[in-house]
Amino acid sequence: KTMSTVIKGGTIVAADRTYEADILIEGETIAAIGKDLKGDKTLDAEGALIMPGGIDPHTHLEMPFMGTTAAETWESGTFAALSGGTTLVVDFVIPGPDGMLAALEDWHGKAKRQASADYSFHMCVTGWSKQHFDEMEKVVARGINTFKHFMAYKGALMVNDDEMFASFQRCAALGALPLVHAENGDLVAALQQKYLAEGLTGPEGHAYSRPPEVEGEATNRAIMIADAAGVPVYIVHTSSEQAHEAIRRARQKGIRVFGEPLIQHLTLDETEYFNRQWDHAAQRVMSPPFRDKSHQDSLWAGLSAGSLQVVATDHCAFTTEQKRVGVGNFTKIPNGTGGLEDRMPVLWAKGVETGRLTPNEFVAVTSTNIAQILNIYPQKGAILPGSDADMVVWDPKLSKTISAATQKSIIDYNVFEGFKVSGLPRYTLSRGEVVWSEGQNSQPRPGRGKLVERRPFPAVSKALSQWKELTAPRAVTRSAEHMPIGV
Ligand code: URP
Ligand code: ZN
Ligand code: ZN
Ligand code: ZN
Repeated sequence: KTMSTVIKGGTIVAADRTYEADILIEGETIAAIGKDLKGDKTLDAEGALIMPGGIDPHTHLEMPFMGTTAAETWESGTFAALSGGTTLVVDFVIPGPDGMLAALEDWHGKAKRQASADYSFHMCVTGWSKQHFDEMEKVVARGINTFKHFMAYKGALMVNDDEMFASFQRCAALGALPLVHAENGDLVAALQQKYLAEGLTGPEGHAYSRPPEVEGEATNRAIMIADAAGVPVYIVHTSSEQAHEAIRRARQKGIRVFGEPLIQHLTLDETEYFNRQWDHAAQRVMSPPFRDKSHQDSLWAGLSAGSLQVVATDHCAFTTEQKRVGVGNFTKIPNGTGGLEDRMPVLWAKGVETGRLTPNEFVAVTSTNIAQILNIYPQKGAILPGSDADMVVWDPKLSKTISAATQKSIIDYNVFEGFKVSGLPRYTLSRGEVVWSEGQNSQPRPGRGKLVERRPFPAVSKALSQWKELTAPRAVTRSAEHMPIGV
């Protein structure tokens, strides 16, 4: 007989309602929800809220990037996640010269050996060829229904509009959802050169070279290209009013687009870069950069209004030592910040406790919405009979001051250092097992995490179900015939 556990005395907070009930877990799933349930073991949830385990759909654990590798490992990152109530991470696979499937095996191998929490993958499309076209179908067959495109990082990961359009049409034909890092990479590259030439070499140059306009323009362009391809689109790390405006406008016209603000952009602003020690500013260099405070109001409003759906972290964490490669040239500072273990406590403190979000909205934006967008609801993102027993027993009275000295992350600093939070996990459960227990010296359990496969959606278009070469001419020839008279 499988072991059963009853979570007793708590208040269940789901995206759609709040109610008091016990939860019976049998094996890895929820067996029943009701009054006076009995099991082999009891977990005390008196005075606590029981919420679906958090899902962070945007991480880069051990990612090779900008000449180095993100220092947060699958082992440390997934345990940090569990300690903060997050039970599933979705990480980005970046294809190398051997293509998508080889890269997926590489990522999967690392995750399988080290992960304490469940994990899933997005695949990045960093170019366009028959190989990309063919591999996308095999990637979908392996349980990945999302493809990420970078409009920035020119000369490295960036794709052009024609490549993005081709890939979006392929996504449409496969029933996959394209994701986009929306910043105009040509403008960023030009602005970087301009500021370096003017002698601005410090980390604040990173913020100046990526103004909100480059994000707004690219967000709008990505949405229009997706609309032309007949596919929905998900904009990652929406950080500015300009980007949010493009998303809002499109949604009001019936275009299906999703926006994902990060906990960092909701709570930290551009003053982190100005008149600071070099290390402090460089530790906070990420793309898009932190904005002025007015953008935060827009993002918070979007979460409660429903024009933005998901709060993520883009956890891509480098040590101070790694950041120092960019001394004398801000364009060399590895881009990325952390937040995997702090996302839920910080969002609770700065969102729910301030009245910006209801507890139900908190559940929606940390778990339920993204489970639906990724097509894994109600296996994940729900407290329902039959769902995986991924839950957090959330104690609104537990408090702490966030500090690198006490975090589970192995990075030597924390961008939320000094934040006082109240509202923390008393217990985190992953598929029925308590994997984090406050004050009980819980340890990582590498190898415990499982891959979560995601089925495609019905294909919305026949576009690019067959391979086609890109035909757009790259060099424009002017014929005399088309010239205005007198030129
Ligand atoms: O600065 C960032 N965001 N680094 C991670 C890679 C990406 O762009 O998401
Ligand atoms: Zn594998
Ligand atoms: Zn990005
Ligand atoms: Zn990212």
